Amino acid sequence: MTSIRALPPPEPDKPLKRLAAEQVAAFQDDGFLLLPGLFASDEVALVQDLLRHDSSVGEHSVGIIDSSGAPAEIFGWSGASEDVLGAFVRIARLVEAAEDLLGGQPVYHWHSKLSMKRPGSAGRWDWHQDFGSWYREGCLRPEMLTAMVAVDRTTPENGCVQLLRGSHRLGRIDHVPIGPSHGADPAVVARALEALETVACVMEPGDVVFFHGNTLHASGGNTSETSRTLLHVSYNTVRNQPTDPLVIHAFEPLEVLPDDALLTGAFAPRLDQAALTRRIELRRKQKIGEVYGYQVAGPKG
Ligand code: SIN
Ligand code: MN
Repeated sequence: MTSIRALPPPEPDKPLKRLAAEQVAAFQDDGFLLLPGLFASDEVALVQDLLRHDSSVGEHSVGIIDSSGAPAEIFGWSGASEDVLGAFVRIARLVEAAEDLLGGQPVYHWHSKLSMKRPGSAGRWDWHQDFGSWYREGCLRPEMLTAMVAVDRTTPENGCVQLLRGSHRLGRIDHVPIGPSHGADPAVVARALEALETVACVMEPGDVVFFHGNTLHASGGNTSETSRTLLHVSYNTVRNQPTDPLVIHAFEPLEVLPDDALLTGAFAPRLDQAALTRRIELRRKQKIGEVYGYQVAGPKG
């Protein structure tokens, strides 16, 4: 035990690597931060091309069942991969912004997913906090966030993500079964919806919204004729590794890539098959949906 008299002074603030102090302050107030046009159209096109030309993504995607029983399609992975998706995870502009927003703490890759809503698909995401699930793995601190990269234009009609401004300040809300799915306690969500502002993440391809692990978020079905694809890249601080790590979320050092790497780097334009095989084996061993309380349908292939 340490005597309160012997405590060292608090650590001085770490210098920011990427963001302005005002941007960090806005994230701390709102629980999210929009960085418009963080990726150029040539860079986003790498993911659009992958989706168009590599059938493995569709074959290995799964459906997360929402509270009405409809599947929301995702292709998820963790760890490193030597392909363009892996390059997005490691690109300096995301990693450094994440570290700035998490108090200058070094981060590692928690997991990522392509979250896809095809035209006319009904699958929704019920209101939840990501830390509501991640906490179940023994991460003590909510030092976790997601960088949500728009691959397509996202609108209320095609099921863009909605965020509750300032909801990260409510702390962690209990997550409970909701019909066949799982989400933040609906009674608390109803009060939060009355008290706080709902913000629709209308985004252009290349825009990025960073949101805190405790920020309440949801999204609706896609009632439009355009597809809605988001790339969610989630980071955890190195000091916040789960105490009882699922192998899938164990710490692996993140080799950061320079900002120009997406356009100059030699990345496989198709999925890294070795990483895909590792991922399928892990998924067989570890039923992450069950840990989080979700039912998972698929994969289709
Ligand atoms: C999520 O919250 O995990 C996904 C939300 C979305 O992509 O609509
Ligand atoms: Mn989420």
